[in-house]
Amino acid sequence: MKTIDELIGEGVEGRRVFVRADLNVPLADGVITDDGRIRAVLPTVRALVDAGAKVIVASHLGRPKGAPDPAFSLLPAAERLGELLGAPVAFAQDTVGPAAHDAVDGLQPGQVAVIENLRFNPGEISKDDTERGEFADRLAALADVYVGDGFGAVHRGHASVYDLPARLPHYAGYLIATEVGVLRKLTEDVKRPYTVVLGGAKVSDKLGVIGHLLEKADRIVIGGGMLFTFLKAQGHDTGSSLLQDDQLPAVQEYLKRAQERGVEFVLPVDVLVAPEFPDLKAKAPTHPETVAADAIPEGRMGLDIGPASQELYAAKLADAATVFWNGPMGVFEHPDYAEGTRAVAQALLDSPAFTVVGGGDSAAAVRILGFDENAFGHISTGGGASLEYLEGKTLPGLAALEN
Ligand code: 3PG
Repeated sequence: MKTIDELIGEGVEGRRVFVRADLNVPLADGVITDDGRIRAVLPTVRALVDAGAKVIVASHLGRPKGAPDPAFSLLPAAERLGELLGAPVAFAQDTVGPAAHDAVDGLQPGQVAVIENLRFNPGEISKDDTERGEFADRLAALADVYVGDGFGAVHRGHASVYDLPARLPHYAGYLIATEVGVLRKLTEDVKRPYTVVLGGAKVSDKLGVIGHLLEKADRIVIGGGMLFTFLKAQGHDTGSSLLQDDQLPAVQEYLKRAQERGVEFVLPVDVLVAPEFPDLKAKAPTHPETVAADAIPEGRMGLDIGPASQELYAAKLADAATVFWNGPMGVFEHPDYAEGTRAVAQALLDSPAFTVVGGGDSAAAVRILGFDENAFGHISTGGGASLEYLEGKTLPGLAALEN
């Protein structure tokens, strides 16, 4: 994989450099609630600016349906990028149309333009190679060189991630180089005990990685919405908690394999429950009850791990040498259900282990809950991407940079 340092060494002054970033940041009413992904691409953009390149930054945001949709405009991200760079950033209201060409033609060396959400064009995520290729051709016409730095999207075989680098000289940006370097430490020569904390809503999203981790990890700690499918698989009542019934056989099989292999699965001993899902906008107090995890009453929904589980999880993290954490423990966006996630984040800070926080939601949680992100070993910008990397899958966006 050629790196951006090699590109800068070759000389990039006045050349049009297409930077595929992942500026897919969380927004509430058009306001960015966590700008971590924008800050993560700054080293690459700054280095190119300093080297006199004409920098074109491109990204997707959310999942629009292949057509312009103001709710998914990249404009707020472009504005934030300009603030962080301390220099104005041009914004093109299309991706490959006249506005994008005008914005790029107007760039002086050392200036930056952001083009509109790549997913406003159906070619970006098309499964049809020709349609994707046509869009990639049009993107390639904007630039002379490609820099891949959208780590959060490297698991997508999309036009700007996979097809475009094949059409231009291509290099890996600093973020991708850092992320891959860190994830390698979790796959090759990992320091033990290796504890993995997995949360988030859907067990189906995590099954692949759990299967793989059963061969690698010493201990797997489970939280988030998916823990209820684990509790159910152990034969417990889960009330009206989130459940993926269709995943029960797979979970049972994993619990069995873990026992055979001596991998410890840690599940909560208590959970916070309420009659219904909290209103995340109003954030009004909901008065949750703490109940035993193996006896959730009917009509009650589990929304976070309880206080005894917080202590248990902290103890299970205390002796680890390496920790990978992906996914919040509860509905951390509501203050009544943030303590489980906060306890895990605090336990990671208190531990001397090499800690990697993987993923959009857990990374955002760390920042939204007010932790100093620099205190963690590494906070990945890629949720799905880091999980697929750990699963040992070939990631299209990395393969494309290697070719
Ligand atoms: C992410 O948020 O994980 C990345 O930006 C990829 O987004 P996607 O899951 O919509 O492809």
